[in-house]
Amino acid sequence: MGAAVQSGYLASEPDYVAALSRHFSYVTAEYQMKWDPIQRERGVFDFSGGDAIVAFAEANGMRVKGHALVWHGATPSWVGTLSPRDLRDAVDNHIRTVAGHYRDHVAAWDVVNEAVAADGSGLRDTVFSRGLGPDYIADAFRTAREADPQALLFYNEYDAERKGPKSDRVYELVKDLKLRGVPIDGVGMQMHVEATSYPQPADIAANMHRLVALGLLVNISEMDVRIRTASGTTAQRLELQKRVFHDIVAVCAAEPRCHAVTFWGFTDKHSWIDSFFGADAPLLFDEGYRAKPSFFGVQDAFLGR
Ligand code: G3I
Repeated sequence: MGAAVQSGYLASEPDYVAALSRHFSYVTAEYQMKWDPIQRERGVFDFSGGDAIVAFAEANGMRVKGHALVWHGATPSWVGTLSPRDLRDAVDNHIRTVAGHYRDHVAAWDVVNEAVAADGSGLRDTVFSRGLGPDYIADAFRTAREADPQALLFYNEYDAERKGPKSDRVYELVKDLKLRGVPIDGVGMQMHVEATSYPQPADIAANMHRLVALGLLVNISEMDVRIRTASGTTAQRLELQKRVFHDIVAVCAAEPRCHAVTFWGFTDKHSWIDSFFGADAPLLFDEGYRAKPSFFGVQDAFLGR
């Protein structure tokens, strides 16, 4: 069971460290291992944030997932100024340098994140697809594998958990990569959901099964469950949230090739959502690091209850 973490909180909040090290065995860098903080200026690498997360994990017997080598959402502006030739060199160099730096310290990488268009019509229009064409995805996986022969290499996506145009497009993408012998090990389903409209477990299971049938691992990579739109008393809304966490995590627990469940943070005190949508209380612990009903829902799911 994993959580996205930030190095700043590891350094400044003993309660954060205590809850994290007690309940989780897998950490994903929520921000510090992305292109933006690591290579803000071309050729100048700052690994301090990611190194702090790795040091914490290794001191606490936890595994690390690197996130994310290639993602349009956290790419410095200088990347967008490059010619196609220069862009190819820059992407190749970034992957080799970062994956090489963290070799033997990460169990997995999100190599490419969110490359499929929101409506599933094709690839998302990004600096990478425009400058390098569709093969930037296969090339990123090949380069990551050369830089790190051991790490599990994942493609990571949001809103591709249920069956539909977007998950169909993800399925076709990774099926093509597998058929071409591209070194991809699995698909991450981010699972950012709302308690009032979440993917049905049977649909998630069917989607997982078809990916597993390709010889891939799957994981739940960034789960949080927003409850802002849920009606009722606070207790009722937290019970609904518990049920959603339980029913979705149970799908992964029942799938032998579902490699991990990672929550996108673990305390409502630090969630990307509250900086965006407010009062969604999307995680397993409240602002005071008290376990919420959702935590016990996840525990029951892992215990098959
Ligand atoms: O740490 C710096 C701080 O030093 C600086 O003063 C401040 C000024 O802007 O920025 C801080 O960095 C912020 C970082 O989060 C850490 O808090 C960045 O601005 C901010 O852009 C960054 O947002 C992250 C976002 O991805 C973009 O990288 C969120 O925390 C993170 O939760 C979010 O996660 C994404 C996944 O990577 C991909 N899937 C969707 C998910 C949610 O958007």
